[in-house]
Amino acid sequence: MTGKTVEIKILGKTIQAKAGETLVHALWAAGMPESVKTGCAGGVCGACTVTLRYSDGRPGGTELACMKPVEAGMEIFPCPVEDDNPVLPVADPELSHLQSAFPTLNRCTKCGSCTTACPMSIPVMDSVLRMQKGEFETVAEDFTTCIHCGLCRFVCEDKVKPHNMGLWVRRSLGMSRNVAITNNEDNAEQEWRYLLAEDRGERLQRARQFRKSGRVGET
Ligand code: SF4
Ligand code: SF4
Ligand code: FES
Repeated sequence: MTGKTVEIKILGKTIQAKAGETLVHALWAAGMPESVKTGCAGGVCGACTVTLRYSDGRPGGTELACMKPVEAGMEIFPCPVEDDNPVLPVADPELSHLQSAFPTLNRCTKCGSCTTACPMSIPVMDSVLRMQKGEFETVAEDFTTCIHCGLCRFVCEDKVKPHNMGLWVRRSLGMSRNVAITNNEDNAEQEWRYLLAEDRGERLQRARQFRKSGRVGET
């Protein structure tokens, strides 16, 4: 440890940071924990997403502040996503349910900004178009790796809320299939064994089949 310090800027304020520490640790040490939201502090939840600009003016794109080490002269711009009331999922969801839960669905102008912004390479815009057609099984797969950083919502000029809808679809499909599991503990154990097949390809196949039928070993 050299003990070297660098200067970084957030919300127009210059703070000192230890070389090599993450942006989040620098903000905590500077007494500004509220300036960037955090959840897991381990690169999983996406709560701490920020955009960056380097000292030479280069845009640094989007980064997770809990993972990104500080660099001298770096400027940090938090990406606040306003709170939203959770929308309850429904079992056996249909397009009309999604439309009434999220009237924003049909506002999409196909600009593609959400897909460009997504750090998880999710085809967000395509998935919104699939939602408009009620293709929920595919939508649920699209959003499997979503970390809910909120960036797709942040960049959407039309306030479409893609990831909120993706989560609603996944929860609604999950709710439809949960009845059998919660009603019978033996079933649950059997289903976990079935779903945790050792072979990766087999596991994926089984998960797809299970999502479709809600049962073990059925096609
Ligand atoms: S950013 Fe919004 S309007 Fe643009 S494609 Fe995505 S959901 Fe549609
Ligand atoms: S919230 Fe949106 S941008 Fe973030 S990972 Fe999920 S789909 Fe991608
Ligand atoms: S706090 Fe969860 S990814 Fe950074």
